[in-house]
Amino acid sequence: MSADGSNGYEAIAHLYVAGRGTRPIVGDAIGAATVRAWAQGFPPGATVLDLGSGPGEPGTRILQEAGLATCAVEASATMVAAFRERFPGVPIEHSTVEASEFFGRTFDGVLAWGLLFLLEPGAQALVIDKVARALVPGGRFLFTAPSQPLEWLDAMTGRPSQSLGAPAYERLLRDAGLTWVDDAQDEGGNHYYFVEKTPSTLDLDVPER
Ligand SMILES: C[S@@+](CC[C@H](N)C(=O)[O-])C[C@H]1O[C@@H](n2cnc3c(N)ncnc32)[C@H](O)[C@@H]1O
Repeated sequence: MSADGSNGYEAIAHLYVAGRGTRPIVGDAIGAATVRAWAQGFPPGATVLDLGSGPGEPGTRILQEAGLATCAVEASATMVAAFRERFPGVPIEHSTVEASEFFGRTFDGVLAWGLLFLLEPGAQALVIDKVARALVPGGRFLFTAPSQPLEWLDAMTGRPSQSLGAPAYERLLRDAGLTWVDDAQDEGGNHYYFVEKTPSTLDLDVPER
């Protein structure tokens, strides 16, 4: 993890907010349709946690427009300030996802859009495990990462990024009690993993005899 916790995003946050964080272009943002369709699959009022939310545009905005109750975790102070300006009253914790306690509660959904591959492999596994524990049985997790195992330099920060690849993510998800149910590719070539928390037999409603 970088010294500021944001893997280089604090240093370029103003640039990021001025681009992706600008309201009028949210509807057209790359991947917005994919995330919107996922968000619309929850009943109104369901709770969703936006990890590495940035300024909340477009992620939290899409979740809110779908009628969901949202919380966010974000490591960059500048991004957190921009988020609070856009979403006054919406809970956001200024923290790394590694250190966050995710508000000490459970959620119906967790979104990690453009986040996981910024973390070192051990931290990616830790976050998957934490997401599994934060989800209610049957809860849903959406994250992005290339389907191939891949290392590259982030275009905005110049820092190393790393996708563990689909087989490794599937293993980590399964070990955490999560099931990879589908995937998708957006118009920008970004890969989305749709994941569910398998209800354990203890969670199933067994009719009384
Ligand atoms: C590529 S941006 C994606 C932002 C937003 N989700 C979006 O789709 O526009 C990655 C975001 O994750 C944040 N971030 C990076 N490392 C983090 C960490 N360890 N914990 C929490 N946030 C982190 C960065 O500050 C940045 O806002």
